[in-house]
Amino acid sequence: MKTPPSRTLFLSGMDVKLYPDPESASIAAAMLIEQVIVDARAKRGKAVLGLATGSTPRRVYAHLVARHRAGELSFRDVSTYNLDEYYPIAANDPLSYHTYMYDNLFKFIDLAPERAHLLDGTISEGLAGAHAGLFERSIEADGGLDAQLLGIGRNGHIGFNEPSDLTPEAAIKLGTRLVELHPTTRSDAAAEFGSVERVIPRALTLGIATILSARSIIMLATGPHKAEAVAGALLGPATAQLPASLLSYAAARTTWLIDHAAARGLE
Ligand code: PGA
Repeated sequence: MKTPPSRTLFLSGMDVKLYPDPESASIAAAMLIEQVIVDARAKRGKAVLGLATGSTPRRVYAHLVARHRAGELSFRDVSTYNLDEYYPIAANDPLSYHTYMYDNLFKFIDLAPERAHLLDGTISEGLAGAHAGLFERSIEADGGLDAQLLGIGRNGHIGFNEPSDLTPEAAIKLGTRLVELHPTTRSDAAAEFGSVERVIPRALTLGIATILSARSIIMLATGPHKAEAVAGALLGPATAQLPASLLSYAAARTTWLIDHAAARGLE
C-alpha cells in the first residue's frame, strides 16, 4: 500500500521525502523505479537501471517482485548495472553481490540474464582498470542510466566510494575502479562475514562521476544509524569526506526517500 510522504523538504537543491517507516519509504522507491521503467520504455523502448545492494534495498526488490508477480511490471526490455562488488570474490560466493541480486531480485523476474550486469570480482588485478572502463562504456552504449538506486553508508559512502581528502571537484570525476574499504564499511559488514577480519577489504565500485551522470538518482535511507550521515549530506557542505553530499552536484535529478528515524538530524 502506498503511503504519501509525511513531509517533503527541499535541501541543498534536492527533493527530500520523509516517510513514517522503512516499509513506506521502500514502497515509494519501488514505485519511482517502476515509473522510470514505464517512462523510459515509452521514450526509448527500453530502460536502464543502476541497482544497489545492502540491507536497505531488500524491501524495494520485494515490492518490485510483487508487482511482477501481480502481472503489473515486466523487466523484458530492462537492463541493469550494479553499483559494486567485493574484490576478489567468486560470483557464486554466498556473500557476493551477484548472489544477493539473484536471491533478492533476478531469480523472480523476467530480466534476461545477459542484461544483468555486475562488476566481476574474479577479474585479475592487472585487468581491473580495463574491466571497470568496459563496464562504464557498456552503460554508455546502453544509453546511460535512467535511474540509479542508492543507499548511504554510515560514513556517507555511495557505492563503495569512501570518504577521502580529495577536493569535491576531483571526487565528482572519480570513475569506476578498484578501491579499499573504509574501516566503518568493514565494521558494518562484519556481521555478514562473521568478523571484521574476514571482511574482504577491497571492492570494485561505480565511480561518483558515473553515479552523478544518471538521469535520475533515488537515494533511500532508513534507520537511526543513518541519521548522522543523512543530516551531514543534506545540511552540510558538499565534501568528499561525506560522498553522499556530492549528490548536490546532480541536485535537480536527485530524490531522497528517508524514514523518520533516518531524518532525525534534519529537524
Ligand atoms: P545498508 O548499506 O543498506 O546495508 O545499510 C547501505 C550502503 O552502505 O550503501
